[in-house]
Amino acid sequence: MRKPFIAGNWKMHKTTDAAVALVEALRAELDGVEGCDVAVCPPFPALAAVREALTGSTIGLGAQNMYWEEKGAFTGEVSPVMLKGLCDYVIIGHSERRNVFGESDAWVNKKLHAAFAHGLKPILCVGENLEQNKAGETVEFVGGQIRAAFEGITAEQARITTVAYEPIWAIGTGVPATGEDANEIIGTAVRGVLAELFSDDVAQAIRIQYGGSVKPANAVEFMSQAEIDGALVGGASLKAADFAAIVKDGLAAKE
Ligand code: PGA
Repeated sequence: MRKPFIAGNWKMHKTTDAAVALVEALRAELDGVEGCDVAVCPPFPALAAVREALTGSTIGLGAQNMYWEEKGAFTGEVSPVMLKGLCDYVIIGHSERRNVFGESDAWVNKKLHAAFAHGLKPILCVGENLEQNKAGETVEFVGGQIRAAFEGITAEQARITTVAYEPIWAIGTGVPATGEDANEIIGTAVRGVLAELFSDDVAQAIRIQYGGSVKPANAVEFMSQAEIDGALVGGASLKAADFAAIVKDGLAAKE
């Protein structure tokens, strides 16, 4: 019922030329793949060139962050108005934004509202750190992030949100969660809380990705889980062959 959605988060990698080259290689592998939404999220300077390189492609485009104000004296920030028309998606609240740059739940909520105000589809990231995981606090913490992020969001807006559950200890470490554990957390702390906040119907419509050391070798493990609708892929999205394998194998696991 939910269409799978696999997105690549390129983080602070790829110059504009390298970004265009990667997108051309991805188009050769993934253009025309049906039954799955695919998107790439390059750094800001490459967005316009990648948009151009994606003309006529089925691959979508996302930004990795944005500020919530439309314009003003906010040196170094990018506004939703600037992304509108350029991108389809915007990643909000990635753990690196939260932990390296100090973004709070309140900021994440403002950014989510701003995305909807400007027609951008948010990919909202949540996830616990290793201490929280070990202390058994994952469900409470992730559930709290979901409640805070969706404050004041309507059911219609919630439906077009993608949530990425990304345990921080699994990001960039090569040590992923297990498919079963991720499925359980997503079912309880993400979809379960969304059902409380909105309704079962809305919660069932929202696409939820797993992120954290997703690679070709484990794509099927995650994508074959009932609650997992896709993946947010960091490191492995920088190689066309790996990202294409994740999409194709992951999609096959859903069919
Ligand atoms: P990773 O990153 O795939 O390199 O672990 C995932 C993410 O941070 O979105």
